[in-house]
Amino acid sequence: MSAEEKAKWNRRYAESGTQNLRREPKAWLGELAELLPRSGAALDLGAGEGQTAIFFAQRGLDAEAWDLSEVALRKAHGLARQAGVTLWTRCVDLDEAPDIEPDKYAVISCLHFLNRALIPAIAAGLRPGGVVVVEILGTPNLERSAQPSRRYLVEPGELDGWFPQLETLVRYDGWVGERYVCRMLARRRA
Ligand SMILES: C[S@@+](CC[C@H](N)C(=O)[O-])C[C@H]1O[C@@H](n2cnc3c(N)ncnc32)[C@H](O)[C@@H]1O
Repeated sequence: MSAEEKAKWNRRYAESGTQNLRREPKAWLGELAELLPRSGAALDLGAGEGQTAIFFAQRGLDAEAWDLSEVALRKAHGLARQAGVTLWTRCVDLDEAPDIEPDKYAVISCLHFLNRALIPAIAAGLRPGGVVVVEILGTPNLERSAQPSRRYLVEPGELDGWFPQLETLVRYDGWVGERYVCRMLARRRA
């Protein structure tokens, strides 16, 4: 990750945040309620302003929000205070092989943040019975929108190969409104 990338995200969050990006994943998480844990540790990668981590904290999990933007994480603390929950935030460059503790998390989420190098560490970070939740835009999205650019998108079907050791419980690639989303919820066997 370049210093420019960090500055870009800090600027974006200082200006207005990512309002369009953040609502829809949260709505989808609500649909997954039955499959998500209610205790243990939760980790949201590329957490932005922390809405997903707050959602986990509200469910009773010890929620961690990791992101490279300190501006976003400051906002996350503010939102958590308003919501009456505690968040653990970590300002970290996830391109630099962060130490995700093995066998720790009841849930790890990765929503609209793409770093394929983290896939093995995410799988290893789940405790038995833990779940990973992924939602990322797919390359067909470029048919309707030039942003995000291809480097932030996955190919349709790509998520099928990400976690062969886990049991896939939810998978969807397709249009949701004007966005082409690739979604997965997969579980480590208990
Ligand atoms: C598109 S936003 C998604 C935010 C949130 N997950 C959501 O769905 O609303 C991508 C997030 O990834 C973070 N990010 C980008 N590159 C990163 C890196 N190398 N390490 C950690 N976070 C990064 C950005 O700061 C930003 O908050």
